[in-house]
Amino acid sequence: MSPSSPVPQVEGTDRGRTKPRAPKAAFVVIANRLPVDRVQNADGSTDWRTSPGGLVAALEPVMRRNGGAWIGWHGAADEPLDPFEDDGLQLVPVPLSSDEVEEYYEGFSNGTLWPLYHDVVAHPEFHREWWDSYVRVNQRFADRAAEVAEDGAVVWIQDYQLQLVPQMLRESRPDLRIGFFLHIPFPPTELFQQLPWRKQILEGLLGADLVGFQLPGAAQNFVRLVRQRVRHKTHRETVYLPDGRAVIAKAYPISIDASGLEALARQPESQRRADEIRESLGNPEYLLLGIDRLDYTKGLRQRLRAFGELIAEGTLDIEQAVFIQVATPSRERVGQYRLLRDDIDRLVGRINGDVGRIGNPPITYLHSSYPRSEMAALYRAADVMVVTPLRDGMNLVAKEYVACRYHNDGALVLSEFAGAAAELRQAYQVNPYDINGMKAALMDAMCDTQAEKTRRMKAMRRQVMDNDIEHWASTFLEDLANARQPHGKRTRPLL
Ligand code: G6P
Repeated sequence: MSPSSPVPQVEGTDRGRTKPRAPKAAFVVIANRLPVDRVQNADGSTDWRTSPGGLVAALEPVMRRNGGAWIGWHGAADEPLDPFEDDGLQLVPVPLSSDEVEEYYEGFSNGTLWPLYHDVVAHPEFHREWWDSYVRVNQRFADRAAEVAEDGAVVWIQDYQLQLVPQMLRESRPDLRIGFFLHIPFPPTELFQQLPWRKQILEGLLGADLVGFQLPGAAQNFVRLVRQRVRHKTHRETVYLPDGRAVIAKAYPISIDASGLEALARQPESQRRADEIRESLGNPEYLLLGIDRLDYTKGLRQRLRAFGELIAEGTLDIEQAVFIQVATPSRERVGQYRLLRDDIDRLVGRINGDVGRIGNPPITYLHSSYPRSEMAALYRAADVMVVTPLRDGMNLVAKEYVACRYHNDGALVLSEFAGAAAELRQAYQVNPYDINGMKAALMDAMCDTQAEKTRRMKAMRRQVMDNDIEHWASTFLEDLANARQPHGKRTRPLL
């Protein structure tokens, strides 16, 4: 598409679109990515598809009621796009140049912050030019939001790519009510201190009225760091700023559209497809499943090794158990991700080569992404869901599996280092660094009695169905609305 095109061209789509207008909104969401992905059709034309993430689903009702706008990058470099309306939602693209994709997105966001915030399971790189690009791009997002937000609007900024936006936006628009939510872990103080720009990041976040984290421990890490590094007064979850403002730091564990996913899983087509998947694997007694973005934080290597050893040593028979690992392609130009891909390719090849038989590879490895309906069928098909990240902010796959098990059957093996472990206490919890422990947990998850599995699943289902994404968004937005008003200034309440 040429940069001068008025709207992203859509061919063969049933979405209602209108000509662009510069939107003004009472509710503004800012995320690195827009809620729609661009897809390339076979004939070369481009199309837009709602991103599978639950965030849009959660925020859609409040966006519609308030004529909300979503500010984000559409995923391609060097391609400025005008604002457009997609299915009644105002989308405001922020362009990135190819240098910025390299330095802000692949570099500082995913080569520095991502590994640093995930317990340095990969080595974070610190480059001054990456930081400069991060500052520049954050400023661009903040400027766009300042144009779009109505007087007194509520603005909700998402995730680690945009941690400077709260402060930048407050500087230009002190009338706004600003919330920030971090979807990934916030690291312990000892690790965060490594960051040469630690103070700027903390000050960036303090531009918000409410800073949300997945877990209470993360909020505490943040408050402690603010006290140590920025020297503001703090009390429990509140930071007191010299200008009289108070910033609250609190946990809001994110969730999924649980009833929507369960409804999809209940469709006869999902069960038919689940049966077909099992059939094509020779109807094994146990089907184990992993679904992850191909990321070094996810513990893929550890889980595949544990499973491979169980087969190799004869604890499990190859006819008895099969492992499907879906690894969705991600950040493929970042060095660590390329290395990981080769590593997993080799490991799967080695295990299948060593212990497989004709027609019986123990691991089916799929480097691909699938539509939601196929995911629901996979969750229905799996006896054991294996979620073993080395560190994870929440992990929604674990919650998705639980939502799909409406017969209260199946078993979840879950790393204690996933945020979800705090809520899904009845999972078979594992330390993914302990291969023997993981082997034992996998065996328990397969061989425990049905009654035991039902007991666990029932409790987890109650947790997930009661605390869905709608609950997450409304709790955060309510607290944001009630956060103390700076200098008594009024903001418009959301509808
Ligand atoms: C994680 C992050 C999100 C990010 C997603 C996909 O869930 O918390 O902010 O959008 O991964 O990664 P990508 O780099 O493709 O946006």
